Amino acid sequence: MPPKSLPADASAQPARPPCVLSGIQPTGRFHWGNYFGAIRQYIELQTAGDAFYFIADLHALTTVRDPERLRGLVHAAAVDLVALGLDPDRATLFVQSDVPEVAELMWLLMSVAPMGLLERCHAYKDKKLRGLPADAGLFTYPVLMSADILAYDATIVPVGEDQVQHIEVCRDLAGTFNHLYGEVFTLPQARLVESGARVPGIDGQKMSKSYENTLDVFEDLPSQKKKIMRITTDSRPMEEPKDPADDHLFALHALVASAPDRQEMAELYRRGGFGYGHVKKALVESAAHFFAEARNRRAALEADPGCIEAILANGAVRARKQAAAVLARARQACGLARGTAAGRRS
Ligand code: TYM
Repeated sequence: MPPKSLPADASAQPARPPCVLSGIQPTGRFHWGNYFGAIRQYIELQTAGDAFYFIADLHALTTVRDPERLRGLVHAAAVDLVALGLDPDRATLFVQSDVPEVAELMWLLMSVAPMGLLERCHAYKDKKLRGLPADAGLFTYPVLMSADILAYDATIVPVGEDQVQHIEVCRDLAGTFNHLYGEVFTLPQARLVESGARVPGIDGQKMSKSYENTLDVFEDLPSQKKKIMRITTDSRPMEEPKDPADDHLFALHALVASAPDRQEMAELYRRGGFGYGHVKKALVESAAHFFAEARNRRAALEADPGCIEAILANGAVRARKQAAAVLARARQACGLARGTAAGRRS
């Protein structure tokens, strides 16, 4: 399926090579939603221009309160990303908190962020609706995410559907800041792939750690098989023809199957006369095959933790250089830096 960029306003920007940026939270092991919605795009786009990918540990602080666990999850996230094909020679891979400039930039953006805008954001709104206590970190989360994006002059942000609202907030805040202080920030566009924008979980809802309905990329195969066998299905009779388009089991199989296998399965659905057990078995096999190479790479990387830490240290240096230049421009524009307006982009 072709990728979708929202909104299409490239004409408003001067022509320059694309700068791709995205972040992912280290709040647990990556699941298929993370991979097919976002990570696969990171890898595809790492040759498209400059590319910055980071592990969002500052964001994770609102949910992971155990310091040792957080450190472990950050390291594991880096291992997973490289094992899945992220190439640190092509893309800058770093940890969000290694670039403190972003936290300062967040404050500049906070001062132009309307409360009403943040109150409408779903991460906060959902928690409030469920009667759960929310902290200021969760409330201001879209402002930190905006700083993450604007600090690198990113033009393209590959994400799943659930992050589109936050990128709209980022564009709003950047637009307001630019309106007040001159053309400081580059307005980014979200990039979605239709086939992975909203990957369903084993219960048919959106796949999400918080719904406990995930299939994890590097889960051991016997427990993945058990989960697949538990995927909810309907009780229509076996012989009845079915529309593959509205079945989450089919959608999951389509993600990992080869094109001919996917087509064959679609025909089987339309014809009828099959059991869901057959689809589940095919899904178990295709999933094991799809991620087999990444599993092997992961095992090799795990044996060399120093290599991953060196990649992250090197990435932090490259990322900081870029963020420092953007922050200097923003400080100058809004009157924090004294002296000439030299930091401002012409
Ligand atoms: P996070 O860590 O929740 O998810 C990482 C990426 O995975 C995508 N995703 C999905 N895509 C399709 N179907 C699903 N079921 C699914 N579940 C998750 C997400 O859309 C995301 O792209 N706030 C972000 C992290 C972040 C960020 C940023 C992203 C922080 N700063 C700046 C982009 C730019 C988050 O919590 O993603």
